[in-house]
Amino acid sequence: MLKSHSCGELSKTHVGVKVTLAGWVDRRRDHGGLIFIDLRDKEGVVQVVFNPEISKSCHKIASEMRSEYVIRASGVVALRPPGTENPKLATGDIEVIAHNTDILNPSKTSPFYINEDIEVDENLRLKYRYLDLRRARMKGNLLLRYRVVKFIRDFLDARGFIEVETPVLIKSTPEGARDYLVPSRLHPGEFYALPQSPQQLKQLLMVAGVEKYFQIARCFRDEDTRADRQPEFTQLDLEMSFVEEEDILNLMEELFTSMMEMIKPDWRVITPFPRLTYAEAMEHYGTDKPDLRFGLEIRDLSDIAGQSNFSIFRSAITEGGKVKGICLPGCATYTRSQLDELNKLVQGLGAEGLVTMPLGTSTGSLNQLTIDMVKSVATKFLTLDQIKQMAERLGAEMGDLLLIIAGRPKQVDMALAELRQEMGHRLKLTDPNLLAFAFITDFPLLQRNEDTGRWEPMHHPFTAPRDEDVPLLDTALEKVRGKHYDMVCNGCEIGGGSLRIYTSHLQRKIFRLLGYSDEEIVRRFGHLLEAFEYGAPPHGGIALGIDRIVMLLAEEENIREVIAFPKNQGAVDLTVNAPSSVTEEQLAELHLRLRDE
Ligand code: AMO
Repeated sequence: MLKSHSCGELSKTHVGVKVTLAGWVDRRRDHGGLIFIDLRDKEGVVQVVFNPEISKSCHKIASEMRSEYVIRASGVVALRPPGTENPKLATGDIEVIAHNTDILNPSKTSPFYINEDIEVDENLRLKYRYLDLRRARMKGNLLLRYRVVKFIRDFLDARGFIEVETPVLIKSTPEGARDYLVPSRLHPGEFYALPQSPQQLKQLLMVAGVEKYFQIARCFRDEDTRADRQPEFTQLDLEMSFVEEEDILNLMEELFTSMMEMIKPDWRVITPFPRLTYAEAMEHYGTDKPDLRFGLEIRDLSDIAGQSNFSIFRSAITEGGKVKGICLPGCATYTRSQLDELNKLVQGLGAEGLVTMPLGTSTGSLNQLTIDMVKSVATKFLTLDQIKQMAERLGAEMGDLLLIIAGRPKQVDMALAELRQEMGHRLKLTDPNLLAFAFITDFPLLQRNEDTGRWEPMHHPFTAPRDEDVPLLDTALEKVRGKHYDMVCNGCEIGGGSLRIYTSHLQRKIFRLLGYSDEEIVRRFGHLLEAFEYGAPPHGGIALGIDRIVMLLAEEENIREVIAFPKNQGAVDLTVNAPSSVTEEQLAELHLRLRDE
């Protein structure tokens, strides 16, 4: 090795030891006589002192060093002179007095500061990702990600799981997104698809008798990027044979509680993980990925609103809509402009508008509330009794603010869910050091696509219907519930899975209900249906978004911050500049010709 120690590992215990260090110049200070170099490597930073009285030649070389030069220095570890210790630095009690040094490689001036955590244009960071990853924050994220994955591997290994790699060049696996296709050179006009997940392959591994499989698997989905979405991402993919839903949920709860103890011992986790049915989640939070760190639950006020003379409420209800609301504790003193801003916010979320009802301004029992105390357009059309009923339904007290939305059910749920989340942040109810995991169960098996009118799987077509709902497949598809479960945390969907169909006749029936022709079923899924005829065990599993989990643990707002080489918003890898054009020869080999658009 070109070095004897790491910069970050040195401490008082090394005083008097002769060391050779190698790394990058983090900072250089020239104090006339002495030159101080903060030398950085993977483990941290240490101060190296170049004193011309100790070595003139070293001092001269050090005077040529600049930020990000790669250097090597040998010297003796010494205590810093009293008063010059740096408590901000882990190695701040000591320094290395250099006797020998050389520049291993100079560096151009970095396009941004590496030793300071300041805002830098993201595209610039992505272009020079290898420099960006030198920064402490990014290094921390890489390390955290590694520790999470290592923990998962050790945890599952100890429970008898084995990791099996599955191919990346496969056939389309429907997970609801567009496929990335790879043209075949050997088979003109034919394409591989990159896996949206290893779903079918892990099911085939169950037929193969693997029983307990997992994989840290790369998945590819050609969909628009978002703060928590990348075209290429990583799952912990897991499947077990002879399991029931409870086994998987308990395993996940154990995995995450033990992972948190190890990785974030200071953070809180709510245990046991709450379980909500899909219907409950939608009713109380307006979303199937609720943030359970705080209350502000949504309540349906339609029955009370329907009795009122308020035309906004009444017409919504007669048109098949709903009136729902939330209560913001202690927010009755919001100003006109604050309320207007909330109104604009919900309009931006697709709702018609927001009815605001501040309940007086002081605290106390609702009995004291009079109609004059409620400064709202609604008071003209609602009786005091109706207002009180709504307030009680929302668990409100005097001094609280009711926010109510009327409209089409989906629109109302979506707007209130977003409003609830936003207010949770604004009211500082979203403790970042609390992880509120929860399982959402009993999803509908299918949903009707409003544009095409076709039934689509709520999750994917391999999810088994609840046994008691199987007869409904012939009579009331909308009522069939799936053996599907999602795992959510702090308002983010971190995982999803199900018990699977494992007989070919039921799987074929589901494909038919989804509108596939028999010919298409054989062409696309014949391999799976046939496998189910060779003794397929009952099985089920789950997949967790590793990137999303690390994002939560790293307290990052964007998934790109926890991926070494992510794609930008436009799905471009700016580091290597992909996608990019290819030569005519390459196209010809693949039997492809580009159309002039
Ligand atoms: P699903 O499609 O729900 O299930 O994906 C599982 C989890 O993967 C993460 N995820 C993503 N993360 C980043 N970017 C994306 N584009 C992205 N898409 C999904 C989410 C999600 O909860 N085969 C099934 C699992 C199963 O049934 O076992 C599947 O892939 O955290």
